[in-house]
Parts: sequence; C-alpha cells; structure tokens
Amino acid sequence: MSFVERVFSGVQPTGNLHLGNYLGAIVNFVKMQETHNCIYCVVDMHAITMGMDVWGGPAELARTTREVTAAFIASGIDPKKHIVFNQSQVSGHAELAWIFNCVARMGWLNRMTQFKEKAGKDRENASVGLYDYPVLMAADILLYRATHVPVGEDQKQHLELSRDIAQKFNNDFGDSIRSHGAHDGMLFPLPEPLIMGAATRVMSLRDGTKKMSKSDASDYSRINLTDDADTIAQKIRKAKTDPEPLPSEEKGLEPRPEADNLVGIFAALSGRSKADVLRDFGGGQFSSFKNALVELCVTKLSPIAGEMKRLVADPGHIDAILIDGSDRARAIADETMKLSKDVVGFIRRR
Ligand code: TRP
Repeated sequence: MSFVERVFSGVQPTGNLHLGNYLGAIVNFVKMQETHNCIYCVVDMHAITMGMDVWGGPAELARTTREVTAAFIASGIDPKKHIVFNQSQVSGHAELAWIFNCVARMGWLNRMTQFKEKAGKDRENASVGLYDYPVLMAADILLYRATHVPVGEDQKQHLELSRDIAQKFNNDFGDSIRSHGAHDGMLFPLPEPLIMGAATRVMSLRDGTKKMSKSDASDYSRINLTDDADTIAQKIRKAKTDPEPLPSEEKGLEPRPEADNLVGIFAALSGRSKADVLRDFGGGQFSSFKNALVELCVTKLSPIAGEMKRLVADPGHIDAILIDGSDRARAIADETMKLSKDVVGFIRRR
C-alpha cells in the first residue's frame, strides 16, 4: 500500500540560527516545497528535554520559537501553501508518543548514540524526556504519516527508530488495523530520511575540522542569520585560513579544511560547484576571495536578516501564523489519532 508523499521535519528552538542551519537544513526545506506537501515544525517540546541552562528558560523559549518561525518564512517557506507550526500546540504529538512508548523497546532506546552524547557522564541526572526524545520524534513524523523526512546525518539513527516503531506498531496491531479498514493493515508508513547537507556541511570559521555550532564559545566561529553586514564582513575577514593561495582544483582543498569550508560556503550560497568556484578564484590570494565571499554572504543573508527582524518585531503576527499552522496540522493529526485509538482499543466519543 502506498501513502501520499508528505514531508515532515522539525527544528529545535534553542540558541541562534546560523549559516550551518540555513545551508544544511532550511535551504532544503525551501526546495522541498516545489515537489511535496510539507510540514515544518518548531519542536518546542523537544527543546525542554535538556536543562533550562541549555534552552534558556520560558522567555527565551518563546523568543527562539518565534525566531525559528521567522527564519523559515524569511528564507522562503510559504506558511499558507505548506504548514508551519510549533509542536506543543498539537496535543497529538504527546498522545501518540505515549502509545509509541508502549511499542518501542528499552533495548532500542539504549542504543541511541545521541542520548549518550547529550546525557554525558551524569546519566542518572538526565531527564526522562531526553531518553524518550526519539520516541517523541517518531510521533512527530508518524502523526502526519509523513513519508519523507529531511534531516542531518546525526538524525539517521532516530529515523531508523521511527521506522522500527512504525513497523512494530503495524505488525502488533495488524489484525486490528485491517478490521478498521486502514491501508491494508499498515497504519503507518516507514518514513524515509532525506539526508541533507552532505555536500554543504558548514564548519566553524575558526577551526575547519569542527562543525559550525551555536554552542561554540566564540561568536567568530559562526555567521548568525541575524548578523548585520558589518558583522558578517568582520567574521569572514577574521576567518582562519592558511598561507597558500587557493588551489585551482577541488582535490587541492582536501588537506586544507579552512579553505575547503570557505569555498564550500561560496559554492552553496551561489548555487555553483566548488570546482566552478575555483575556476574563478584558484591561484588567487585569500584576501580577494574573502572580499567576494563577504559580498556574496551579505547579498544573500542581509535580506533574510532584515525580514527576520521585521517579523520578530510583530510577535502577534508570528503567533497568528503558528496558530493557523497548528489548526491545519491538528486536522491531519486528529485523523491519525482517531484511527490509532480505535486500533489500540481506546474508547472515544464518536
Ligand atoms: N531531532 C531533530 C534535530 O535535532 C529535530 C526533530 C524533532 C525532528 N522532531 C523531528 C526532525 C521530526 C525531523 C522529524 O535535528
């Protein structure tokens, strides 16, 4: 049985969005709109799985939720044609997560590498929510019976868990699903990851071997989506390089992570290949390449920063977008919840 193709993805509202988030995720979200019905969710319930020192407390959570929404819209996601909303406004996420809690096995969750990383040494003190995070993520996706999920490489294992949960639910409740006439005994599709950003992993401007990250202590390591033109120029001019001129061939970038990163950023922002960029800049000094990169970054990112600023200045407008998105998300989610409850045997008002 085939399901209608639908895209779902989520972004956590923690910290500031930067160029890595933009090129690694948001650009792909924008592109998927041309071919699919898309649901983009600001996952505020996932954000609170870490300590308040990480997500910043209630006021900061509300601010970053609106900021991610503004970034989506400023980057070209259309909240009317597609759906943009925050997770906590659709109760089905929590409800389906509970059912999935009873399908997923402890052994499966114990294998999740991200939990181990995030919990660190003091695992006894990690929240139960952090442990359960991947189950909530499966519920996010399957609540809409989404078939395609654009995610970073680091979320691949969580996607596999979502597939395992969907499959076990379909198997365990197969007879009940069939008796309720749903999809030949398949209530849930097995969602496919679309691994993003393989070609455009954006690295730190201070160390080309580390990912660009919101948690890096130095703000010079990243370009934030809200940086103004002067800040962008300063950060790129200070970005680490090496003393050699740029190579003329892509192969020459291999042992030079900082050069590779800057050329990669130029390529991604201009929609060209690295080889093509090197045809223009190979053999030249970093200083002139950096000037061109500053101009490109400012041209591409300033309009987004400007639009984000305009949007976040009117929180009422953003909230209205999230409420409208939630209403349309809920309409889809409610159908899945009704079916899921019937299939499990939960009595409900008809
Ligand atoms: N865990 C994802 C991340 O940190 C965010 C996320 C939550 C998500 N729910 C999702 C991504 C559902 C895709 C689909 O990147």
